[in-house]
Amino acid sequence: MVILGIETSCDETAASVVENGTKILSNIVATSAEIHSKAGGIIPEQAARQQLRWIIPVISEALKRGCNWNPKKNTPPPIDAIAVTIGPGLIGSLLVGIETAKTLSVVWQKPIVPVNHLVSHIYANWLDKNKKNNYPHFPALALVVSGGHTDLILMKEHGKLSWIGGTRDDAAGEAFDKCARLLGLPYPGGPSISEEAEKFLKGYKSKNIRLNLFPRPLINEKNFDFSFSGLKTAVWREVEGKRLNKKMVQRLAAEIQEAIVDSLVVKSIRAIKKYRPKSFLLAGGVAANKRLRKKLILQTKNEILQDFHVCTRNLCTDNAAFVASFAFFNYQPKTLGEIFAKPDLTIVGEA
Ligand code: KG4
Ligand code: ZN
Repeated sequence: MVILGIETSCDETAASVVENGTKILSNIVATSAEIHSKAGGIIPEQAARQQLRWIIPVISEALKRGCNWNPKKNTPPPIDAIAVTIGPGLIGSLLVGIETAKTLSVVWQKPIVPVNHLVSHIYANWLDKNKKNNYPHFPALALVVSGGHTDLILMKEHGKLSWIGGTRDDAAGEAFDKCARLLGLPYPGGPSISEEAEKFLKGYKSKNIRLNLFPRPLINEKNFDFSFSGLKTAVWREVEGKRLNKKMVQRLAAEIQEAIVDSLVVKSIRAIKKYRPKSFLLAGGVAANKRLRKKLILQTKNEILQDFHVCTRNLCTDNAAFVASFAFFNYQPKTLGEIFAKPDLTIVGEA
């Protein structure tokens, strides 16, 4: 089954053609991050305008590359269904993808599958082409760490999810983004902080440096919750009134990264110990973080969990390949009247 995925939940306009939920035939992503970078954060109105500008060229390109479709020929592309993100996300951005998908489904007479963006992030772990059939096993435990959400999820099988914990305030990605701003680093903050932190860690040959300047709230509590809002206050106190030079920024970036990564790792290990999943799946934009990947892989190995999955870094951040993959494994087409934007959708359904 060949599915066209469409993703417009935030500042990426993405379309992808995926076969049987695992094989990427094309994956096109246009981003307006550069525009937001100047402002230090996303401007929803601007993001929606950019979605409108890019949606048709991005879908056309995905179909051309993925299934040799010729837009001039006036025939439907050789796909079996269209999958589209319905939430959570920015309403203006979501509407562009949803209305385009609905229109194409009518014109081409193709079924349409609504997709929860947060759950679909996890499906990036079914897409890795180097996997040689080593796909995740159920029950699986998934840590979804994105710009707006941080959730630990137990997956009994496709479509059977239970939420076991998450952030009580800011998301991990949000913490990266806000702290980067305090250090004068550009948006998105995750890659900026990570880049500066890497410079520090390299210089100090990483292994035995103690990075414990900032708090790790809730880390000793026997739950699976996170709290990141205190971090930005702590960082603000640390930098207030100071003229930061390059070295100071690098050190602070490493401290910030370590505080976020430690919280994520400790709670993931706690959850692995309790639920004993067959596979652990790391997903969401923050999963691109090298330090998080390294520490989680190392520590999960110590916890008798052989099957650790994390997608290639370019599939961690928003794209439409995981949208199409989700739709294949959770194939539930809906009528047009049942498909509408849900900006506040949570990982287990409506808020
Ligand atoms: O999943 P995603 O692409 O979009 C949302 O659904 O939110 O996640 C975006 C988030 C941003 O907060 C960004 O700073 C963070 O992922 N991010 C990273 C890295 N790359 C992206 N955080 C830490 N390290 C990275 N390398
Ligand atoms: Zn995302």
